[in-house]
Amino acid sequence: MSRACCVIIISQIIFVCVDAYNSKCGKVHLTVSARDTYIEMNWITECPKYLQPDEIILSRKNMAGRDEDQDILLRVQPLDYPDGYLKTKVKFGHPFLPGGWDYNDDVGTKAPGPHCFPYWISSFNNSHIIDSRCLAIQPTWMADNKDLLADRYLDTLLLPGTHNSGAFLGEGTFQEQFILNQDRDIWTQLVFGIRYLDFRIGYYGAQGFFLNHDKFRIQEVRPLFQQIKKFLLASPNEMIVLDFHRFPYPSKFSEEIHNRFIKIVNEDLGEFAATVLSGMRTTKLREFWALNKSLIICYNNQAVVESKKNETWLWHPLRQYWGDARSLQDLKRHIRKVIDERGDLPKANPFWALMAELTPRPIDVFFGTYNLRKLAQETNREITKWFRDEFGKESNIVATDYFVGNDIIDIAIDINTRGNRNKTIS
Ligand SMILES: *[C@@H]1O[C@H](CO)[C@@H](O)[C@H](O)[C@H]1NC(C)=O
Ligand SMILES: *[C@@H]1O[C@H](CO)[C@@H](O)[C@H](O)[C@H]1NC(C)=O
Ligand SMILES: *[C@@H]1O[C@H](CO)[C@@H](O)[C@H](O)[C@H]1NC(C)=O
Repeated sequence: MSRACCVIIISQIIFVCVDAYNSKCGKVHLTVSARDTYIEMNWITECPKYLQPDEIILSRKNMAGRDEDQDILLRVQPLDYPDGYLKTKVKFGHPFLPGGWDYNDDVGTKAPGPHCFPYWISSFNNSHIIDSRCLAIQPTWMADNKDLLADRYLDTLLLPGTHNSGAFLGEGTFQEQFILNQDRDIWTQLVFGIRYLDFRIGYYGAQGFFLNHDKFRIQEVRPLFQQIKKFLLASPNEMIVLDFHRFPYPSKFSEEIHNRFIKIVNEDLGEFAATVLSGMRTTKLREFWALNKSLIICYNNQAVVESKKNETWLWHPLRQYWGDARSLQDLKRHIRKVIDERGDLPKANPFWALMAELTPRPIDVFFGTYNLRKLAQETNREITKWFRDEFGKESNIVATDYFVGNDIIDIAIDINTRGNRNKTIS
C-alpha cells in the first residue's frame, strides 16, 4: 500500500516537472551586455536532452516570418554552450528606437504595441522552430493588455524598474566605471518598458537640482522630468512609480530645500500625479485610468510628506529592500528572505521594491578597482532566471542596473498577464 502511494507521488512529481519544462524548454531571448553593449543570446537549457534545441540562430529578420532572406548573423550549436548563453560580437550600441518612439522623432506617429529592433533569436529542433523572439521596446505594455490588467491593483503587479535611474551619461566617460548604474536615458528606459524610477536628488544653490549618485552630481533633474512628461503624454495608460528616494546633497537637506524641490516637481509633473488614497488596495488600474492620472510620486521623507497635507499627490515613502550582498548566492538568499519575511507595509504606500544589485566589495571600493558594469553583467543573467522561475509571482517592484542586460520587462509582462498577453512579439 505504502509502496503504491510512493509510486503515485513520484509519477506526479515527474509529471509536474515535465510540464514545467514543456512550457519553457528551448525558449529564447536577447539581452545587451552591460559592459560594452554587444548582443547576448540566451536560451533555456534546464530540460531533458530530448527536448533541447539543436540549433540557435541570430538573425536580422524573423526566421518564422515570410522573408526569403532572413539575414542570418550567427548559427550556434547549443551543445557547445551548456549554459545557454553566448555573448556575440554584434554591437547593439544605442540605436534609433523603432515604431516612431525615438525621443527626437516628433514627425512620425508613435505606434502602440511592441516594436522590434532588427535582431531576432530563434531555437530549432530538426529545422522546426521551437521559439523565436526579437529584441523589442514595449512602450505601451499596460495599455496593450488593458483588459487583463484593468481590475488589478498596481501593488500586485510585477513592475520592472531601474536602480539609480538617472545615473546614465554618454558612453566612455571616466565616471562610468564607478558611478553610473544605467546606460540608457529616462525616456529610453520608459519606452523599453521600465515603470519604476529611483531618483536621488542633490541641490546646488543657484545651479538648481541635480540627479546624484551619493555626493557625485550627474545631471540636472528638470530635463529628466521633461522626458517623463513627454512619455506620459505619448503613452497615457502606462502607470509609472517615481521614487524620490534619497536627498544626499547637501547633507543637511533642509525643509526649505524640500519645499523648493516639491514646488518644482509639482510644476513639471503635477498634472499627471495621482493623489494618495488612504489604505491599501483601493485603486485598480482602471480607476487610475479613469482619473487620467498615471504617475505615482513617492517621497522618502515621512516628516516632509506629513507636513504637506495639502499636497495630496505626495505619496509616503516607498520601502526599498537592499541586500548588501557581495555574492550572487547571498543576493538570491536575501531576496528569498525578503519575500518570505517582509511583514506589513505602511498603509500609506503599498508598493515595495527589491533592489537586485550586488554591492562592490570594500577592498575594491578602496582601490577603485570595482566596475559597476561588470557587476551588473554578472548579476543580470541570474536575475532573469530567478524572477522568471521563482520570485516573479511574489514580487512587486524589481529595480536593476543596466536593465537591457536582463529580461525582466518581458518576464513582468508575461507574469502580469499570466501568459495571456494580447500583443506578443513574433
Ligand atoms: C525534436 O524532433 C524530434 C524528431 O523529429 C522529435 O521526436 C522531438 O519530439 C522534437 N522535440 C521537440 C522539443 O520538439
Ligand atoms: C490627461 O491628462 C493630460 C495631462 O494633464 C492631458 O494633457 C490630457 O489631455 C488628458 N487626457 C484626457 C483624455 O483627458
Ligand atoms: C500647499 O500649501 C503651500 C503653503 O501654503 C502652498 O505654497 C502650495 O501652493 C499649496 N499646494 C497646493 C497644491 O495647493
